Amino acid sequence: MNQAAHKLLLAIMALLPFTATAEGPSAQALAFTCAGCHGTDGSSVGPSSPSIAGMDPEVFVDAMKAYQADRRNSTIMNRIAKGYSEEQIQGMSRFFARQPLQRRPQQNDPVLAEQGKALHQEYCNKCHSEGGREPDSGILAGQWMPYLEFSLDDYIEGRRPYPRKMKRKVEAVLKEHGEAARTALIHYYGSQQ
Ligand code: HEC
Ligand code: HEC
Repeated sequence: MNQAAHKLLLAIMALLPFTATAEGPSAQALAFTCAGCHGTDGSSVGPSSPSIAGMDPEVFVDAMKAYQADRRNSTIMNRIAKGYSEEQIQGMSRFFARQPLQRRPQQNDPVLAEQGKALHQEYCNKCHSEGGREPDSGILAGQWMPYLEFSLDDYIEGRRPYPRKMKRKVEAVLKEHGEAARTALIHYYGSQQ
């Protein structure tokens, strides 16, 4: 094959759906079993299952391992996570990381969302940058509000290991602005499209 044809072939392969990529079809096939709760390709349509599309692969793997080891509170994921090997989890983490997150409209109070925005900038944006859109530290912007409520409860009540230094910031925002700060932050994340 001449070089131009070779380049063209590579370009075509890059456009092909998932099957042509490194982890093979199995990661995608495994991910189908998650769709019932997490939505097609990881963008959840219901408020109690979080969206996992676009999730940072390391955060994804950490979450699955924490579920497997019962280190993180869960209603269902502890049982589900135990059914997958490390390699399968790695494969799914790469699959979901590539899926664009579809943020769905959620009912929120614009005044609270504005307050939440200011609090986020001061206390949370250092790690959850771009207003919580940057997925390195989990998905906040556009995540389902009831899920965020549960996950904050889990940290605060010690049912989920706190990321280093996040505890200090959450405690500070609650101490300085009261419980209402939590609601405001959640409205801010829920307001983002
Ligand atoms: C029966 C519904 C259901 C199925 C099926 C399911 N999940 Fe979940 N998932 C949840 C719920 C609900 C949570 C929140 C934690 C909990 O309550 O267990 C969650 C949480 C997660 C999280 C943590 C997200 C975050 O933001 O930290 C990851 C990662 C995840 N699931 C991955 C998967 C993968 C991968 C599959 C498929 C192999 C899967 N889930 C299948 C319901 C489900
Ligand atoms: C020092 C860095 C850091 C700071 C500051 C921080 N976080 Fe986090 N946060 C993380 C990391 C890393 C995760 C990823 C999940 C994990 O490791 O548990 C996370 C996860 C979360 C989650 C769970 C998301 C999910 O998918 O379940 C919520 C909610 C959250 N943070 C809220 C906040 C809020 C609100 C603030 C500010 C008051 C804040 N964080 C400040 C690092 C930080």
